[in-house]
Amino acid sequence: MTPAQLTGQVLAAYASPRDPRLRELLGTLISHLHAFVTETRLTPEEWLTAVRFLTATGQTCDDERQEFILLSDVLGVSSLVDLVNAAEGATESTVLGPFYVPGAPHRAMGEPIGRPQDGVPTLVRGRVTGRDGQPLEGATLDVWQCASNGLYDTQDPEQPRFNLRGVFTTGPDGSYKFRTARPVSYPIPVDGPVGDLLRAAGRSHWRAAHVHAIVSAPGHRSVTTHVFDAGNEYLSSDAVFGVKDSLVRTFRTPGEGDPEDVSYVVDMDFALAAS
Ligand code: BEZ
Ligand code: FE
Repeated sequence: MTPAQLTGQVLAAYASPRDPRLRELLGTLISHLHAFVTETRLTPEEWLTAVRFLTATGQTCDDERQEFILLSDVLGVSSLVDLVNAAEGATESTVLGPFYVPGAPHRAMGEPIGRPQDGVPTLVRGRVTGRDGQPLEGATLDVWQCASNGLYDTQDPEQPRFNLRGVFTTGPDGSYKFRTARPVSYPIPVDGPVGDLLRAAGRSHWRAAHVHAIVSAPGHRSVTTHVFDAGNEYLSSDAVFGVKDSLVRTFRTPGEGDPEDVSYVVDMDFALAAS
């Protein structure tokens, strides 16, 4: 038997699912997996190493930690899923990450989401619109980020629950603003199998500094995205391939008409596609 004959046999065995999408996914998955083994002439030892790696990845998961999603992130698969599902003309999406917590408090427009000791005071502001540029009233921004020590509230017993998190709702002009700390770079968790992979590959485990946002509006597709700091050193080596040029913004010092209680101002508009 040749490798091609075996691949043909396996494909035929999985060709009958009634659901056409399942048929397509299984067929394509088998073709690519078999091509990988054939092309690389994978040895039994290498195959066993891969099985052990995936087993350890599963064993590292619990209610709070999802090592498989982290693996998908560092292989660029999470970002690729985002890309192939992107809506043209809408704000680009990027990875959700493991630190999102639903249920953050609703805050008044302009209110700080954190404490003075969380970092350099920064105003984030902009507008939520449709793809046509029309303002969206009643859009919500669910935002979160880490403190200047590189830790999210869920990782840091010194931070109160829901620190550096908040939900804002736009008024008739679609505008929003909130005060926060200028975000910093931070390392992704590397004490598990994903860390072993990054070290073996000689890759950086740092995320480029960012503020997370999930932007939603009635009748529109939500976007899960980031605002990246243009001055950050990890933009081109982000551990999870989350950086998209359209999401990078300059954190500038306040000018005329800007509030005086912050050291930086960043403008970021979001456009949503109709659902
Ligand atoms: C984050 O930005 O919170 C994140 C995303 C992917 C992996 C680790 C962290
Ligand atoms: Fe993050």
